[in-house]
Amino acid sequence: MASMSLQPSTLSSLGLFMKSNVRMKPIPPPKDLSLRGQTALITGGNSGLGFEAAKQLLQHGLSRLVITSRSAEKGKKAADSLRASCQNPDSEILVWELDMLSYDSIQQFVRRCESELLPLGNSVSGRGLDIAILNAGVAQAVFAINRSTGHEETFQTNYLSTALLAILLLPLLKGKGKPKVGSKPGRLSIVGSSTGLTAAFGNRNANPLIPSFDDQHHWEEMGAFERYSVSKTLVMVLLAQLGKQELVDEDGNGVQVNAFEPGFVRGTNCKK
Ligand SMILES: NC(=O)c1ccc[n+]([C@@H]2O[C@H](COP(=O)([O-])OP(=O)(O)OC[C@H]3O[C@@H](n4cnc5c(N)ncnc54)[C@H](OP(=O)(O)O)[C@@H]3O)[C@@H](O)[C@H]2O)c1
Repeated sequence: MASMSLQPSTLSSLGLFMKSNVRMKPIPPPKDLSLRGQTALITGGNSGLGFEAAKQLLQHGLSRLVITSRSAEKGKKAADSLRASCQNPDSEILVWELDMLSYDSIQQFVRRCESELLPLGNSVSGRGLDIAILNAGVAQAVFAINRSTGHEETFQTNYLSTALLAILLLPLLKGKGKPKVGSKPGRLSIVGSSTGLTAAFGNRNANPLIPSFDDQHHWEEMGAFERYSVSKTLVMVLLAQLGKQELVDEDGNGVQVNAFEPGFVRGTNCKK
């Protein structure tokens, strides 16, 4: 069961910016929202939007949270701060290493999720992972090829690695066996951006397409911002592809997948 409307934007970049940052007012989650017994994973949950999302999930009683960072020190600092602010002593906060520039790291990370995220005693869903927010992302200002995979780093992080991680996490989010009565489907959310709706995607007719992202000449022609925007267009293409699969059955069991535009915000690491 898939519902998706993926249309080119009829608004300019400025129009979209005004819509998502000025005209749209945040809708608070329902007051009775309870995430007790659930496990959530947030990639790059140690800073910026991921960190703020982590705080909110914990405020709603989330029982287990995994945040990732490439730096154990940064991850620990974030976890300490989350523990201090969440006022929920029963929540378990784990910091696991994940480098989205390495396929080995992504695969190792998923294996760790499979072996260590066992269903919690108070889990209604019977799954070890209920929510995955794929938030880790970059907007590189300069062209750089990632040595480990041979791809340009913004394209690698925001699209290729995000796609791999999303696909590898689906079975975990789906769970094994018949879901328990009253449990919600697993949820996979990818942090997108409205810039993805206004990207010119000048290299879309390149054949083959993927090497065109690793071509410095193309990058310089298109500019860093356009390349970032295209990486977010590709997130929506991924979403459209995932939507074609039968991820949720007619009883609503399975995995719900979405991507969202968070609006323009400064990361929590920004100096005030
Ligand atoms: N800020 C905005 O206005 C805005 C608007 C639209 C969309 N977004 C999207 O929202 C997401 C978060 O942005 P933010 O502004 O909150 O950024 P941020 O504060 O810079 O945080 C980025 C996070 O991504 C992680 N990350 C970066 N490269 C990584 C890699 N190779 N492997 C693993 N983790 C990596 C970082 O973790 P470590 O460095 O600790 O590993 C960090 O926690 C991104 O996907 C961004 O494109 C942001």
